[in-house]
Amino acid sequence: MASLDVTETFHGIAYPGHLCTKETLQNALRFPFQDTDILIATYPKSGTTWIQEIVTLVCNRGDPHLSQTVENWARAPWLEHFYAPALLETSSQCPRILTTHLPYHLMASALQGSKAKVIYVSRNPKDVAVSFYHYHKLAKFLPEPGSFQDFLNAFLDGTLNFGSWFDHVKGWICPTVAVDNLLHITYEEMKLDLRSSIERVSSLLQCPLVEEEMNSCLKHCSFDSMKNNRMVNYTSVAPEIMDHTKGSFMRKGKAGDWKNLFTDEQSRHFDSIFRSRMQDCSLNFVWEAPTEDED
Ligand code: A3P
Repeated sequence: MASLDVTETFHGIAYPGHLCTKETLQNALRFPFQDTDILIATYPKSGTTWIQEIVTLVCNRGDPHLSQTVENWARAPWLEHFYAPALLETSSQCPRILTTHLPYHLMASALQGSKAKVIYVSRNPKDVAVSFYHYHKLAKFLPEPGSFQDFLNAFLDGTLNFGSWFDHVKGWICPTVAVDNLLHITYEEMKLDLRSSIERVSSLLQCPLVEEEMNSCLKHCSFDSMKNNRMVNYTSVAPEIMDHTKGSFMRKGKAGDWKNLFTDEQSRHFDSIFRSRMQDCSLNFVWEAPTEDED
């Protein structure tokens, strides 16, 4: 694959050239969905790996074998990543679990008319910005983040890799034409009530779980289990690609951690941009998780 410092610009959005080329991005736009497919769509750092684990466990009725033996990117590949076609060609997994960070407007035509089930996970954008900032320090295929203030400006301007959080969320959850079979779930809902979040996923996937299966799902997708699972914690990725001395992928797993990094002024500025960018989105987000421990 291309060297780590290449950026691919596609439809005005930057993507890491280490993972995507124009051709792989273009292929994702024409992806031939099957009606049994499950597509996970997220802006990075919104809980992608967590929902990949939940979906894997639900599809396997709580049996952790697959989630403990196959890496998440191999069992729920990103459509836009270079390795996806080869993996999918040889996979016998059914239903297929697919992932994308692409915005809705780019995926819309491939999804049109498909019965594929879509799960969109969103997260408090302040926590996304903080998680993404730390991630930029360890992921060598992303640019150096600079100061948090610089990074935050780029996040609000939508110039980071993967584009604007505002456009991504609005595109998927307030689209002009409703997406069929779409479940929107938030990271904070999963934090507050993981059981009912898993129930919503199992209901979408028409995969009801008995109590024992549910308990197994709950156990294996807890933060502590996932932090120690090499198939999802990215510790097997070579240090040239992820510098594990700079932090861990499974960092804190909290809602509201932004309060430890944002200044009051940054938070006020963020709120005012949020109000103006999201005024055309009728969804009322609930981001405060009252049961969270403060640091
Ligand atoms: P933090 O950096 O805030 O800890 P993604 O998978 O979309 O890249 O998101 C990564 C974020 O989700 C990280 O957030 C990570 O710790 C968090 N995460 C992953 N699994 C989790 C879990 N089981 N419970 C809570 N948070 C989880």
